[in-house]
Amino acid sequence: MTSRAHVAGWGKYVPERVLTNDDLTQMVETSDEWIRSRTGILERRIASDSDTTASMAIEAAHEAIEMAGIRPSDIDMIIVATCTPDHVFPSTACLVQDAIGATHAAAFDVAAGCSGFVYGLSVAADLIAAEAYQTALVIGAETLSRIVDWEDRATCVLFGDGAGAVILRSNGADGGILSSVLGSDGSGGDLLHLPAGGSRHPASHHTVSERMHFLKMKGREVFRFAVSVMPDATRQVLGQAGLTLEEVSLIIPHQANRRITNASVKALGLPEDRIYSNVERYGNTSAASIPIALCEAVEEDRVHRDDLVVLVGFGAGLTWAASAVRWSAPLPTIRPARWEKAWYGIRYRYAAIRSLARRVIRWIAARFSRDE
Ligand code: COA
Repeated sequence: MTSRAHVAGWGKYVPERVLTNDDLTQMVETSDEWIRSRTGILERRIASDSDTTASMAIEAAHEAIEMAGIRPSDIDMIIVATCTPDHVFPSTACLVQDAIGATHAAAFDVAAGCSGFVYGLSVAADLIAAEAYQTALVIGAETLSRIVDWEDRATCVLFGDGAGAVILRSNGADGGILSSVLGSDGSGGDLLHLPAGGSRHPASHHTVSERMHFLKMKGREVFRFAVSVMPDATRQVLGQAGLTLEEVSLIIPHQANRRITNASVKALGLPEDRIYSNVERYGNTSAASIPIALCEAVEEDRVHRDDLVVLVGFGAGLTWAASAVRWSAPLPTIRPARWEKAWYGIRYRYAAIRSLARRVIRWIAARFSRDE
């Protein structure tokens, strides 16, 4: 029997604070009409001071774990796709591992820009298919509001914050993640980048005064890249799975710009209702956009059992990625009962106590042990 990775649970978290296009007109010289007509975005969510990429990832993970009805200790791999990690290291995935009490999990981050979630999904699915792992938590989470230049109208109107997560489980049944395509073209790295904060330009007075810790983008070039790569990756991933476009129930693309997704469905010759969009509510949440959109598509009853769904993204790197998924999760979604939620709450509190105890033990060991 061949193992396949099936989506067993999904969850999302978006911060409460809404920033509308009208709010942005108070910050930079722009208009609701310009943003709407150029991007389709009406509003986006902005993290509160206490939110971080990890805290949002943890909220999304809780939902996905509870939906899948598994124990955190069942998870044997955690992948967090992000370009706005809490720290360069430790990885955000390790912060999630500790907070949820996934005591048997390997954990690492993926940096593949807005394609990161599909990159992570593909890696996890292949490791599950190879029977190296059984249960993976794959998260896309971003706090882009912390790297956006709020004085640059060409970029600050585009982005938002949030997190989405899925649980993948090994199962012998047909369906699940059928195929994936991953690609990169580093020659376009300068089209969308964060110049400073790495080994090339470590933080200094100069990098701060030159605003080099903010995201820079050549919008037109990225636009051209996106509209060509999305249809190509979609065709390629379907071809690899031996499927055709006609069989696709829904395409869930990276939510960057309504014009990009419209141009892509047109290039594919598909009707507009075959592509999912929620960019109007969240803007571009980078690696979080596809899992958030997937959650909402399921909640809105746009995905049904045995549907063929294509997830397709593009982003900084440059990178692109697509996965063809035969949706095999039971629907309608079964929300955990109140007592189950309470039980999970106890587990997470236990994880926090466990984490604290380990820190205390380490502190005591460091204080009282004598070096040889
Ligand atoms: N409000 C009003 N005017 C704005 C503006 C804003 N927020 N941002 C830029 N402009 C102006 C520019 O200054 C320019 O003015 P000029 O002609 O006087 O120089 C004009 O609008 C056109 O700018 P341009 O960049 O050519 O616009 P565009 O039609 O290409 O749209 C994007 C800009 C960013 C919406 C579009 O290029 C895009 O969506 N690119 C892809 C971005 C993306 O998806 N990035 C993430 C990838 S993961």
